[in-house]
Amino acid sequence: MEKTLNIRYREYASAAALGAADGELMRRAVAATEGAYAPYSGFRVGAAVRLADGSVVTGSNQENAAYPSGLCAERTAIFAASAQRPDMRDYEAIAIVGRNAGGELCEASPCGACRQVLLEYEQRQGHPLRVLCMLEGGAVREVGSVADLMPFSFAL
Ligand code: THU
Repeated sequence: MEKTLNIRYREYASAAALGAADGELMRRAVAATEGAYAPYSGFRVGAAVRLADGSVVTGSNQENAAYPSGLCAERTAIFAASAQRPDMRDYEAIAIVGRNAGGELCEASPCGACRQVLLEYEQRQGHPLRVLCMLEGGAVREVGSVADLMPFSFAL
């Protein structure tokens, strides 16, 4: 029997159309691109995670000459949040922004490994972690939960 999966998501024309807290989270992700260390790809990524107490932890991609040793912005951010605030492993949303070699903001959708990592924190907390990605031209895509990005996922 053939079956179909649908995912529901929203698009906003710009970050200005988001609520105040999500708009600020997107601004923090944009600022976080400045901390990227991306001499190999030239592609900088910023991520900002908002915790349930309203605080924000940011991260950016960190590359290495031994390529697989580098880490994406999303995992840098969520691992930092988990490490620094073990008392508050409760995440409302993550905003993600790319900046290309020309310095322009662009889409950076989380890779499979980052989705797997984000999913575990979402499952642990028992409620959705929303994913906000800036798109070309400054629009924003909002997916309501990491699980929506990760059908038939692995979990122990
Ligand atoms: N990258 C991220 O940090 N997040 C993404 O969502 C996609 C890719 C990084 C990994 C690498 O440093 C660079 O972008 C190019 O792939």
